[in-house]
Amino acid sequence: MTNKKVYITRRIPKPGFDKLAEGFEVDFYDSDDAIPHQVLVDKLKTKRYDALLCMLTDQIEKEVLDAAGPQLKIVATMSVGYDHIDLQECAARNILVANTPGVSTDSVAELTVSLLLMTARRIQEGVSAVRSGQWGDWKPKWLCGTELTGSTLGIYGLGRIGFNVGRRLKPFGFSKIYYVDVQEVSYARDIDAQFTDFEGLIKNCDFICVCCNLTPQTRHMFNKESFKRMKKNAILINTGRGGVIDHDALVEALKNGDIQAAGLDVTEPEPLPKEHPLVAMNNCVILPHMGSNTWDSRNAMAEIAARNCLAAISNKTPEGIVFVQ
Ligand code: DGY
Repeated sequence: MTNKKVYITRRIPKPGFDKLAEGFEVDFYDSDDAIPHQVLVDKLKTKRYDALLCMLTDQIEKEVLDAAGPQLKIVATMSVGYDHIDLQECAARNILVANTPGVSTDSVAELTVSLLLMTARRIQEGVSAVRSGQWGDWKPKWLCGTELTGSTLGIYGLGRIGFNVGRRLKPFGFSKIYYVDVQEVSYARDIDAQFTDFEGLIKNCDFICVCCNLTPQTRHMFNKESFKRMKKNAILINTGRGGVIDHDALVEALKNGDIQAAGLDVTEPEPLPKEHPLVAMNNCVILPHMGSNTWDSRNAMAEIAARNCLAAISNKTPEGIVFVQ
């Protein structure tokens, strides 16, 4: 046990906690719910922590970093996304930022495919119909959805998750797969995906899966103007970050028939209030940000986040280091 200290903003799965507790003094917010911002700020002032292990619900910005003090070596988030961390503020203080890449790729890709199928085949409406006693005689035109076979798939963000979504969806027999990213990637060939620009994606695709990070470049890319240019039968799936879609514009697009349907595992805000117009819409399937909710992923995410803290404290490069551009 060294005199190094780690603060964890939530109860985390045991493999991660145990790894840290082996060598460090570990304090944590003893709850399954998010730590209130002010509680985090106040807590960080009470001791000089060397590492902060946080969640995607914690806004790690100037006030938090000021409270933590100059000895803080790393902000390690137990997530792939890091849009909740002010990277510039961390860089200015020489604080490393690390995420948990790779270990939730399969769980998020599986969930994305499930959500796409749920949305295309109107599975939520079918389940509700059975539960509410609306299942009457077999009807030729009832709850008809859209087939994947022969349609065009678009992937917005062909990183690990986007690629693995494409790999799983390819056997369904899409006629063409397009992708958008900051640049062409060689592995796209493995799923016969063709590089295009945003315009090409929205004009040509029947299904679009948003699998990117939230950045100033991707924020509200799906907005009133882009919905107008999408195919009327388009189905939009988002398992990246809610902020990539302008939700007011999505409500209008789904009402007006600018696009056919949407499946969202991430929303803006989160949680989406149950009064939000999207919640009651039949052509919108909403899940509560559960892409990486498997024990395999969550245990591995906790463990990597812990290893990232360990590495930074030992002056080594964390495996999930996030580079500030
Ligand atoms: C992530 O890791 O960023 C995911 O959104 C968590 O489910």
